[in-house]
Amino acid sequence: MTDGIIRPFADEDYWQYGITKWIEWDMKKDGYRVLLSGPSGSGKTTLANAILCKTARNLPGCEIYLLDYKNIDFAYLDGAKRYFKYDGCTDGFMEFYNIFEERLKYPDSYDWLILYIDEYPSWLLSIPSKEQKDIMSRMARLLNLSRAKRIHIIISCQKPLGELFSVGSRESFSHKILMQAPSKETIGMIMPNFKEEIETCPTGVGYCTVNDTNLTKIRVPWSRNIEAMQSDLWKAVDR
Ligand SMILES: Nc1ncnc2c1ncn2[C@@H]1O[C@H](COP(=O)(O)OP(=O)(O)OP(=O)(O)O)[C@@H](O)[C@H]1O
Ligand SMILES: [Mg+2]
Repeated sequence: MTDGIIRPFADEDYWQYGITKWIEWDMKKDGYRVLLSGPSGSGKTTLANAILCKTARNLPGCEIYLLDYKNIDFAYLDGAKRYFKYDGCTDGFMEFYNIFEERLKYPDSYDWLILYIDEYPSWLLSIPSKEQKDIMSRMARLLNLSRAKRIHIIISCQKPLGELFSVGSRESFSHKILMQAPSKETIGMIMPNFKEEIETCPTGVGYCTVNDTNLTKIRVPWSRNIEAMQSDLWKAVDR
């Protein structure tokens, strides 16, 4: 399929009855701004990998920037043009950011552009504090203004602390996802309206809200076809 529709995960309530009801995201519509959180080992990177591989396959011509500070889970992309690891993440971010600023200046039709940052805080907190502020304000601008510019932004972080996102820009995320066993503190940070409903889940299961409503319990089915998916992602990261 090349219609821009991806199925990142299934509805867990149906899954419990043996029915796979996929949730669909239309990646050709607006820019998605996705915040992925959950404790270590909860399945954030696995979900991110699925979202990115499916987007690479279904959104023809898209270009994906992948910032992987930890340089473990996406090491298979090493050598691809838009894969940035460890200290290189700052260069990758600036390259992406400059394209975004150009898009703001000139109304035009563009190819879809995607930024994924794995473990955003690990990278952010590794850089000097003056630069951190600069990156955070750019991130806020990106989250605010990229939506109509054919840009998707996906950020993963264990604890989405407010101070990691300047001027309240955490509220700019359209899709918020909490995987597995979020602490009360984390629930309070991004899904405060659903404190009562959210319970501890197994790995690969969690919750999603869209514009802070529509709480859905989700399951990320384990993919059997990982190599074919990874080769699609490689192409979009190297394009
Ligand atoms: N959807 C899933 N179904 C079954 N098992 C899963 C699923 N997602 C993750 N796992 C298992 O959990 C492990 C950890 O997943 P993953 O690396 O995605 O978590 P993470 O939240 O990114 O962790 P970290 O914070 O350490 O980066 C995987 O190696 C896999 O064994
Ligand atoms: Mg991870």
